[in-house]
Amino acid sequence: MEVIPLGPGFAAEIRGVGLTEAAASDDVYQAVRSAFEEHSVLVFRKQPITDELQLAFSRKFGPLEIAKAASRGEGTSFSILTNVEPDGSLVPPGHKEELRAKANQLWHTDSCFKIPPALTSILSGRTVAATGGETEFTSMRLTWERLPAETRHRLENAWAWHDYAHSRGKIASHLASERERSTMPAVSWRMRWRNPVNGRDALYIASHTCAIDGMEREEALKLVDELTAFATQPEHLYKHHWQNGDVIMWDNRATMHRGRPWPADQPRYMMRTTVSATDADGLAAMWPERSAA
Ligand code: OGA
Ligand code: MN
Repeated sequence: MEVIPLGPGFAAEIRGVGLTEAAASDDVYQAVRSAFEEHSVLVFRKQPITDELQLAFSRKFGPLEIAKAASRGEGTSFSILTNVEPDGSLVPPGHKEELRAKANQLWHTDSCFKIPPALTSILSGRTVAATGGETEFTSMRLTWERLPAETRHRLENAWAWHDYAHSRGKIASHLASERERSTMPAVSWRMRWRNPVNGRDALYIASHTCAIDGMEREEALKLVDELTAFATQPEHLYKHHWQNGDVIMWDNRATMHRGRPWPADQPRYMMRTTVSATDADGLAAMWPERSAA
């Protein structure tokens, strides 16, 4: 297995083994897992992707999330991100899927609004856009390390709230439905996620972050905006240009990502599996009371 660094201090391409080998062999899985803990974003090119292979690979990392209410894929282990309708036509302008794609273009980490939140998301490019539609990543571990010591000190014992409806509301007030709101109430986590394998800390915020304990709402939102801007300076990003058959997995504890726009007349069809975090992934310390329950 070869690990080829791609980004500014994080992200790597894995060559020599792929999803098939990792799904079939514990040794290969362990090597991939170590690279994941180290590099936070792993890229696999030209994978012979099928739903079964994506599921088998994903399950090695832990329990799979069930796609949330009102999403394409609800009730299954796949979240489908696409502008293609089941009948093959492309969604018209202003369609809910187009607005969702816009919301995905805000910097975020996946599922911080869920209990449990996500360890990793595994996204396969089934039909990638011919132009645009890239995915950009930043390291929230390097971000943590770059923050002034005094800010780190202030945030290491801070608790932030995350709400799916909050990020959707930035795009359109009606985008999160009543059912989405009632099935996904806001949740809080520590703002610093410590990786138990290497002890490295990461800042845990997202477009979904709607409040910080002990701060006025406006002041908290301003701080989240400032931290997001600090984390996403262009020189700190890895931008992935998709080819069909690419698979990317990222560490939701230690990165943020965003989609980029693509022309509305081009089909794009991506399938995501999401692995839930467990106490072994450092979740216990994110909310000690909850994991003890
Ligand atoms: C995701 C996501 C961005 C993209 O799958 O969680 O945010 O470029 N995707 O599709
Ligand atoms: Mn996402």
